[in-house]
Formats: sequence, structure tokens, C-alpha cells
Amino acid sequence: MKQFTIVANWKMHFGPTEAVSYTKKLKAKIVDHKSVTVVLAAPSIDLVAIDKPAIRGHLLLGAQDLNAKDEGANTGEISGPMVRQVAEYVIVGHSERRRDQKETDKQIAAKLAAAVRNDLKPILCVGEKLADRTNGHSTAVVVDQVTAALHGVTADDIKDLQIAYEPVWAIGTGEFCPPEHLSPVVDAIRHTVEHLYGEEASSRLSILYGGSVDPDNASAYLAVEGVTGLLVGGASLNAESFGSIVRAAQDEALK
Ligand code: PGA
Repeated sequence: MKQFTIVANWKMHFGPTEAVSYTKKLKAKIVDHKSVTVVLAAPSIDLVAIDKPAIRGHLLLGAQDLNAKDEGANTGEISGPMVRQVAEYVIVGHSERRRDQKETDKQIAAKLAAAVRNDLKPILCVGEKLADRTNGHSTAVVVDQVTAALHGVTADDIKDLQIAYEPVWAIGTGEFCPPEHLSPVVDAIRHTVEHLYGEEASSRLSILYGGSVDPDNASAYLAVEGVTGLLVGGASLNAESFGSIVRAAQDEALK
């Protein structure tokens, strides 16, 4: 039976109060999801507030970013050891941070190393811009991003790695990325990991899709060979629609 991972990326939405009531609503909506690991990538302040007994089994927490250093004079930053006290996963290299915080491939590699050093499961985001796609460079751009981000980590370090393929032009735009666009990129990601770390590491690798995922298109993305989950932004802000995506994944896993 297949096993999927569905990640809610809340971005900068919800304070602790809303986070607690969302989690309660979501739990009521997704009673039986044994084949789906659900990760709430919440703002750091919410990770502390969400009721710990609510978070167990197949419902887990993730942070949206971390600093590459474990401690220091870095006002406003959150480190791996801090995140590890409250969450299991961490998103690294989201395209909004690449764009707005000007995160470079080198910084992203350092953050990924910090995540594994602190026993966090990294969700590495990669994806091409519209111009790359138009020029037919989607795969090349993604392969470069993956290679750069993995610089300095070992096969053992990446045993819990998830790579989220998120075409930048499809994020938050409602722009539908045809599922058939995914296959060559997903294959290229897996081949890159195989080339760097061997077959076992690549067969273990989890590859998520993200970009305007909603309850209507979730199944089509999950049906693409090699896709093992989804990273959901906008549609995760409503517990009802996110719950529907989780249920769609559970159904897809049983097919
Ligand atoms: P979206 O965001 O689902 O709103 O497109 C996805 C993401 O940014 O991870």
C-alpha cells in the first residue's frame, strides 16, 4: 500500500489561537488516515501553542524555516535545536524565501545541513520560474537546485529527506500545472539523488508536489508516478479543504 505525506504550509497565517482551533477542526475531519502522514508547517509561534496530545501518530508539526547556525547573536531567528523541541519537520529553501529573503543555494545547503544535524526531517523546496519553463529549462534548473542544496550531506543524512517540486509560476497563482509536466522533473530529481548517493537513497526519497494544489486536483498529482505527497499553501488555510485533500490522499493510497 502506498504511503503519502501531505504538508500544510500556513505561511504567515494564523496566530496561536487560530492554530489551536484549526487543529481541532482538522482532527475531526481526518479520523482515519493511516496511509497519510499529515504535517502542519505552522509559524514558529504556533508550534508551541498547538496542543501536544493532538499531535501524534500521523499528524505532525513542521517549521517553515531555520537558521543555519545552532545558536548565536541572530535577532529574530530560530535555530535547529529550538525547532527540534517542538517539531519534526522543517521546510528549507521555499521559493518565497529565495525571492524575498534572497536566500542563495549556498545558504539553503547550510540550512539543510543544520536540519539534519538537529535530527529534523527537511522538506527541501525547488522549482523553476516561468521564464525557465518557457525556455525549456525546468529540469535543468531543478537539478541544479537539488545538487547545490545537497552539497555537504551524506546518504545517511538524507534518509528522511523530502524534496518538494514547486514550479514557482504555479505557487499561489491558481495556475494549474498539468500533471504530465511533473513526470520528467520528478524523474530528474530521483536520478540526481541516485547519481549522488546511489540507488537505495534514491528509492527511499520522498518527492512532493506543490503549487495551487486543491481538493479537486490533489488526486491527479498523487497519481503521477514517483510523487509521494503534496505541499499545500492556500488550500491548507481552510481545515475543511485541507481535510478533503488528506482524504483524497487516503483514497488514492488505497487504490
Ligand atoms: P499554494 O502554495 O498551494 O498556495 O500554491 C504552495 C507553497 O507555496 O508551498
